[in-house]
Amino acid sequence: MYTVLARKYRPQKIDEIRGQDVATTIIRNAILKNKIHHALLLSGPMGTGKTSLARIIAKSLNCKNGPTIDPCNECELCISITKGKNVDVIEIDGASNRKVEDARSIIESIKYPPLSSRYKVYIVDEVHMLTQEAFNALLKTIEEPPNYVKFIFATTALDKVPDTIQSRCQILSLKKVPSEIIAEKLKVISEKEQVAIDTDAIDMIAHFANGSFRVAEGYLDRCINYKGDNITSEDVEKVIGIASFEQIKKYLFFIKEKKLSSALSMIDNLFNNNLNAEFFSQSVINYLLSSDLNLEYKTALLNVYYNVLVDIKHQVDEKIALKIATHKAVSIGDLEKVEKLIEYLSENEPNQIALDSQSAKNIVVKNSVNEGNKTDIKENSMLDFVLREFEGKIISTENIKK
Ligand SMILES: Nc1ncnc2c1ncn2[C@@H]1O[C@H](COP(=O)(O)OP(=O)(O)OP(=O)(O)O)[C@@H](O)[C@H]1O
Ligand SMILES: [Mg+2]
Ligand SMILES: [Zn+2]
Repeated sequence: MYTVLARKYRPQKIDEIRGQDVATTIIRNAILKNKIHHALLLSGPMGTGKTSLARIIAKSLNCKNGPTIDPCNECELCISITKGKNVDVIEIDGASNRKVEDARSIIESIKYPPLSSRYKVYIVDEVHMLTQEAFNALLKTIEEPPNYVKFIFATTALDKVPDTIQSRCQILSLKKVPSEIIAEKLKVISEKEQVAIDTDAIDMIAHFANGSFRVAEGYLDRCINYKGDNITSEDVEKVIGIASFEQIKKYLFFIKEKKLSSALSMIDNLFNNNLNAEFFSQSVINYLLSSDLNLEYKTALLNVYYNVLVDIKHQVDEKIALKIATHKAVSIGDLEKVEKLIEYLSENEPNQIALDSQSAKNIVVKNSVNEGNKTDIKENSMLDFVLREFEGKIISTENIKK
C-alpha cells in the first residue's frame, strides 16, 4: 500500500522537526528539566509541525525511558503513540467536537488516571473551533488539571482562541518554514524514495509550498505519481499548475493591448492545464513589480491582482475571480479616460451635458478604438464625439460626477 509522503516522513524525534528552532528549544529544555507546562498551545500555519510536535512531546513524556528528549520509538508506548493507538494519548479534533457536551466528556474522562502511561495527554487539534461555552466549561480544568494530565492544543488561528484560554497556556509559535529548509527535506525524501528530481524542480516545489512542509510533500507526491522518475521543473509546473514566465508575459501583453478575448481564452487554456490561480496572480504581481510600466497603471494592475488573492482567501471561485480580474485589468485605461472625460465635461460644459458613467464608458471605448491605444485623450475630439453621438438627446439633470 502506498503511504503518502507527508505521513511516511512525519518527524518522530524532536531533531527531525525542522525550521522551528525556537519552539523545539523551549520544548527540549522543558523536557530536560521535567517541567513541561500542563497546557501547551501550539500555534502556526498548516503543515508546519504542530501535530508532529504534539505527538513527539507525548512520546517524550510517556516513553518507558522517559520523560526524555530522546524517546526510543521502540517501546510499546512509543509505538502505540506513533500509530495513534495509545489509550492515554487522546487526540481530539476540535472542529468536529466543538460543543459544550464534548468539553464535558473530556472533563469527565480526565478524572481517571492513565492506564499504562505516565501521563494522560490530550491533543486537541484546531482548538479555535470550540464554542465559547465549550471553552468556558474547560477553563477551570485547563488551569488546574490533575498532575497526570497534559493538554496540548494546536491551532492555525491563534486570534480565534479566547484570551482566557491563551492566558492559561504556554504558547509556542511555529512559523512558516523558509523554502531552503523545505528543499533540504524534499531532497532527502527523493533520495530515500529513489526518485531522480532536478534541483530546480525541488526549489520550485519548496518555493510554491509557501512555508508548509505538508504542502511541499503533497506536491512531491503528485509529481511522483505523474512522472515516476526524472522529474523536471516543467513537470512541476504542470502538476501544481504554475504558469511559466513566458505565459505570464504573454498574458500581460494581451492585457496591455486590451485584447480581452485573447486574455480570457488564455485563462481558459491554463485552467484546462490545472492552473493554480493563486500562484498565477502572485506571478503576475511579481512580474508587474519589476516592470517599468507607468506608475499609475502599474499600481492599478497590482491592485486588481492583489484582490484576486484576497478573493481566493474568501473562497471565491478561482476561475471566476481571475476572469473578473482580467476584465478589470483590460478596462483600467478606459476607466481612467472615463473619469477624465466626466471631469472635463463637468468643468467645461456644466449643466449642458449629462451622462451616466456607463454611457461615458461606451463612448470612451468606442473612441479609444478610433484613437488606437493612446493613453492621453484629446478632450476636444472626445467632446465632439460625444456631441455627435448624442446630439439632442443628452441634456438631462443626472449628476455628471455620479
Ligand atoms: N517542522 C517540520 N519538519 C519536518 N517535517 C514537517 C514539519 N512540519 C510538518 N512536516 C511534514 O508535514 C507533515 C504534516 O505536519 P503536521 O501534521 O505536523 O502539521 P500541522 O502543523 O499539524 O498541520 P495542520 O495545521 O494542517 O494540522 C508531517 O507529517 C511532516 O511530513
Ligand atoms: Mg495538525
Ligand atoms: Zn519509547
